[in-house]
Amino acid sequence: MIVFITLSPLAKSDWVIPSHFQTPKSLPNPSLGAATAPQQGTQDYSYKFSSVAITGGGYITGIVAHPTEKHLMYTRTDIGSSYRWDEASQQWIALTDFIAPENVNWLGTESIALDPHDPNRLYLAQGQYVTDTLPAAFFVSDDRGTTFDIYEAPFPMGSNDLGRNNGERLAVNPFNTNELWMGTRTEGLWKSTDRAKTWTNITNYPDAAGNGIGIVFVIFDPKNSGTVYVGANVPNGLYYTKDHGATWHSIPGQPTAWDPELLYAGHTPASTAPMPMRAILASNGILYTSVWRDITPGTNNTYPAPYKPQAWLPGGFCGISVDSKDPNTLVVVTLDRDPGPALDSMYYSHDGGETYKDVSQLSTPPVSGGYWGHPVAEAALKDGTPVPWLSFNWNSEWGGYGAPSPIVGLTKFGWWMSSVLIYPWDSHHVMYGTGATIWATDELYKVDSNKAPQWYIQAQGIEETAVLALMSPTDGAHLFSGLGDIMGMRHADLDLPQPILDYAGQHPNVVVRVGDSGVSYPNGCGSGLYSKDNGISWTMFPTCVPGVGNQTNFVGLIALDASAQSFVWASELTAAPYNETGPYSTQDYGATWVAPTGLTVMTGNLSADRVQPKTFYAFNDGIFYISKDGGLSYKSTPASQTGLPAGAGAVPVCNFDTAGELWLPLGTSGLWHSTNFGASWTQIGPKSLVATYFSIGKSAPGRLHPALFLWGQVSAGGAEAIFRSDDAGVTWARINDDAHQYGGAAIIQGDPRVYGRVYMGMFGRGIIYADIAGGGRDPV
Ligand SMILES: *[C@@H]1O[C@H](CO)[C@@H](O)[C@H](O)[C@H]1NC(C)=O
Ligand SMILES: *[C@@H]1O[C@H](CO)[C@@H](O)[C@H](O)[C@H]1NC(C)=O
Ligand SMILES: *[C@@H]1O[C@H](CO)[C@@H](O)[C@H](O)[C@H]1NC(C)=O
Ligand SMILES: *[C@@H]1O[C@H](CO)[C@@H](O)[C@H](O)[C@H]1NC(C)=O
Ligand SMILES: *[C@@H]1O[C@H](CO)[C@@H](O)[C@H](O)[C@H]1NC(C)=O
Repeated sequence: MIVFITLSPLAKSDWVIPSHFQTPKSLPNPSLGAATAPQQGTQDYSYKFSSVAITGGGYITGIVAHPTEKHLMYTRTDIGSSYRWDEASQQWIALTDFIAPENVNWLGTESIALDPHDPNRLYLAQGQYVTDTLPAAFFVSDDRGTTFDIYEAPFPMGSNDLGRNNGERLAVNPFNTNELWMGTRTEGLWKSTDRAKTWTNITNYPDAAGNGIGIVFVIFDPKNSGTVYVGANVPNGLYYTKDHGATWHSIPGQPTAWDPELLYAGHTPASTAPMPMRAILASNGILYTSVWRDITPGTNNTYPAPYKPQAWLPGGFCGISVDSKDPNTLVVVTLDRDPGPALDSMYYSHDGGETYKDVSQLSTPPVSGGYWGHPVAEAALKDGTPVPWLSFNWNSEWGGYGAPSPIVGLTKFGWWMSSVLIYPWDSHHVMYGTGATIWATDELYKVDSNKAPQWYIQAQGIEETAVLALMSPTDGAHLFSGLGDIMGMRHADLDLPQPILDYAGQHPNVVVRVGDSGVSYPNGCGSGLYSKDNGISWTMFPTCVPGVGNQTNFVGLIALDASAQSFVWASELTAAPYNETGPYSTQDYGATWVAPTGLTVMTGNLSADRVQPKTFYAFNDGIFYISKDGGLSYKSTPASQTGLPAGAGAVPVCNFDTAGELWLPLGTSGLWHSTNFGASWTQIGPKSLVATYFSIGKSAPGRLHPALFLWGQVSAGGAEAIFRSDDAGVTWARINDDAHQYGGAAIIQGDPRVYGRVYMGMFGRGIIYADIAGGGRDPV
């Protein structure tokens, strides 16, 4: 799901334009010389960086606990790297925010390895995608991830590639803890004897290719030196060695066909037989090696009997955890049982898998309609803080993501449940990761007496959304976001999880958003909505623009004029061809959409003046466009007359309190500024300034200019970082330090009401807000 948001500049519930807003305020122009020169200087403050609380928001691919050190555990995610649990503060701590923009491929964890004898030692295998160009790396720590040594890996990794839900590919040899083995996706099995610094190929492993997903777990037997179990992503792919890799043996008796109970008519499984995904060596040494026993939960060994319409769909089982205190007590979770109705579940056994209790079914309150889930009141942290977006608004037709339960009051038990952990220090505490968050209970024992355990969310501190849009209006909530997969939020409080953007209601307006709804709505355009109450409730446009349907995947970008009466919607974000129509406009809340004159490119590089009504700007292929009639007609000026670089394009950034004042961030072509509605432009700063992302915020005390925020470079060869200027771009101060780089921003947004504050949206590390430390921060 993709959401783009844009807000009316007048985030007021009335519709009256204050008269003083209608006349452009005059502003000193830095290009006009000393008489009107801005006050000089930008104070270099230290900053405080905080996550905007969403609490999860992406796929939790692994939860790994240290075998002996109490409360020490780590979580890995597919696009947001790794976190360490901090028991004292009851939250997860992000470990790799130092990753520089050029190393963005390290922002995902393929595997975590812990040293069983030294709890301070931590190894992270970092690499998001298997590519030739972006190397993967090992992050090696002696202080639980506070600091790392980094070594480039001689093979690629893919934490966000297919097969990311498998077990731990990286493992420490308990008999020689400087030695690690790593099962790779494309290059077979490797060994390091110097703590992941250098690696050699163990070339005799029998199934090195593993269907492109490779070798998916490595397990050292802690009781027998030289015995290692290694699984590859192929049927019959489970091998062991007893001589430290000199010779390999297939574990006999592996399933060579699918259990008919796991199949259903007409569905062809992706493989001829089950393939190993994860394995546990229980404390009694049982990996069920020599004698195989089918311990699959099924209709005959599970209580309570499954809800009637439930079919035992294909997919299978992935996550597994064995009680550290009892090798016969285990949980397994299913994977990919979509489509439901019961979907993915958790099964609990005390007899080594002979019989199971269905934890998800027992946790589901009555009147569930067969959709096993948690009462939404349980979507809260242990301290009671609600995580309301996990309701997914009970939108029954949410689409393929599998997130919501259609039963109002119930949030789905889970999907993409591949990581599960019985807490080694409390057998009643179990946690499982989903495609969105981590659920936990301290009452697993209740299942034994067929009662529902009380569940809660244990993902506080994990922020792994992909941020696609940010807006900070001049009134109401300080922040609106558009987020990959989970639509977006109105952040009424930055430090508390919020509800997902809602659809209902009819109130006075100001916010508009477009995005793939994934759904067909019979009574309006599900892909374009506006809100008259600062984004609390939303109304669908009666019709979509031509080319956009209810379920169009990529729906473009929408802008709303200062009077909140005219909307302009570019239905795609392609800058050509010129024979098409330009962005459509409506003056009647989407009852009719009109193709404009004077702009015949469907460009997404458009925005609305924040002060002067009916005024829209577009900048495409070096040509600057302005409309003063609500997007019905445009006047264009070529690069030869504006002085702007030929061929360039960008979304014009408009001042929130001054009509006609605009900026254009043009990457390596620099940052450009106009104070006269785009009639003429000047370049800010040196020619070497690189303006990747740009935004403005509240001016410094006593200054006339808004604070400028720039992600890019302010000097040739300087750091790629985020900067602030308090003097209209004459001087810049770096905001972030090397510890706060997040692999680079995907979007930035200043706050027009809090001096110094900037929001940074990442692709996989959620939203960070940076405030001047010890001051400058107004109450939210
Ligand atoms: C490592 O060995 C495997 C065979 O086990 C082979 O397929 C792979 O190409 C080798 N890779 C390198 C880089 O030597
Ligand atoms: C379950 O039990 C029924 C009735 O006893 C039997 O027909 C069926 O084969 C059993 N299924 C499995 C998978 O054992
Ligand atoms: C949305 O889809 C429904 C069903 O396909 C259709 O009846 C309706 O007209 C569509 N709405 C819009 C605005 O396209
Ligand atoms: C625009 O022109 C190109 C090149 O002539 C052509 O391929 C394309 O189909 C045209 N598009 C439309 C919408 O007419
Ligand atoms: C804006 O223009 C640039 C340069 O032509 C282009 O790469 C980019 O896709 C455009 N952005 C949108 C949102 O249309």
